[in-house]
Amino acid sequence: MQRLLVTGGAGFIGSNFVHFVVEHTDHLVTVLDKLTYAGNLESLAGLPAERVTFVKGDIADASVVDPLVAASDVVIHYAAESHNDNSLHDPRPFLDTNIIGTYVLIEAARKHGKRFHHISTDEVYGDLELDDPERFTEETPYNPSSPYSSTKAGSDLLVRAWVRSFGLQATISNCSNNYGPYQHVEKFIPRQITNVLDGIRPKLYGKGENVRDWIHANDHSSAVLAIIEKGRVGETYLIGADGEKNNKDVVELILTHMGQPADAYDHVVDRPGHDMRYAIDSSKLRDELGWSPKYSNFDSGIEATITWYRENQDWWRPQKAATEAKYTEQGQ
Ligand code: NAD
Ligand code: DAU
Repeated sequence: MQRLLVTGGAGFIGSNFVHFVVEHTDHLVTVLDKLTYAGNLESLAGLPAERVTFVKGDIADASVVDPLVAASDVVIHYAAESHNDNSLHDPRPFLDTNIIGTYVLIEAARKHGKRFHHISTDEVYGDLELDDPERFTEETPYNPSSPYSSTKAGSDLLVRAWVRSFGLQATISNCSNNYGPYQHVEKFIPRQITNVLDGIRPKLYGKGENVRDWIHANDHSSAVLAIIEKGRVGETYLIGADGEKNNKDVVELILTHMGQPADAYDHVVDRPGHDMRYAIDSSKLRDELGWSPKYSNFDSGIEATITWYRENQDWWRPQKAATEAKYTEQGQ
């Protein structure tokens, strides 16, 4: 049994991780989350109070972070500003949280000699051509495109420097696009599902040719647990489940599962600098740590996700109108 400090545990992937930990381990969890627009305490509803403690606070505030890190065995750092589109309109919060916030956390982990795991993204590697036979590996050079991905790249490099110069006991994982329950309606898959539920046509950026490498949030969680338990300190592990799909195919799948004509969507203005394709080679994680994904049937995963959004309208409805109003203003 270990005491885990999970930053960003009220967000999409962090909350899925907390549920996963409670179900599959005997670890105790403290969640540190600022509850920005993306955080939702309802995502942690129903979890046992003797296993999960919630603290509202900013990871960039050392006076909050320091005692929490001191009282934990492992810090798992999910908290971030996470949405590319937001970063293109207002980059500043991305620097404050993703760069300064990570700095404050690794300083506390260094001071108290704690194990640290940094959650990052495949977007730090930039993008691939549609016909490129290569996929991202741990050796791919960093080449981020957006303010979001460049701040994530910066945070990865801070962690690497703290490992090398200060002996920080850290690992890093870079995962591909997650889907599943508790994802904010600003993101692609929940936006389209909730649009259809509200009688709004799904919105596809540009031609919809862009490819994302989808993984279920539970598979991300099991990979992170494997890295904490068996990963080598100082190493980076890529997490992916061989789930490449283009956006058009995903929208058509959602529409079909929801009983609509497959072409009942609109093309809208493209994202500036829109990365064309992400694809992960997760051989290192699989070969070294024996991890494999268990939720790789995308079709049934999407069906279950549609059901979750249909049955949990109280969870997402408070965010929906404002999110769509913002997109409409941006022509998206
Ligand atoms: P999210 O936006 O759903 O959740 C982020 C959480 O962090 C929210 O609960 C928010 O309140 C909290 N937060 C933001 N700023 C904070 C601050 N200053 N202090 C404390 N808490 C703060 O994001 P997500 O999609 O769950 O992503 C979580 C992590 O996983 C991020 O680091 C992201 O880069 C990474 N990641 C995401 C994906 C994906 O597909 N969503 C894929 C790979 C990696
Ligand atoms: O690859 C990992 C990354 O995946 C994470 O680091 C990010 O935090 C996470 O948000 C996600 O980034 P993307 O930009 O790929 O995700 P998003 O859901 O915003 O968009 C997925 C794809 O769908 C992308 O090609 C843009 C497109 N899109 C998005 C929206 C919101 C549309 O076509 N229509 C939309 O309405």
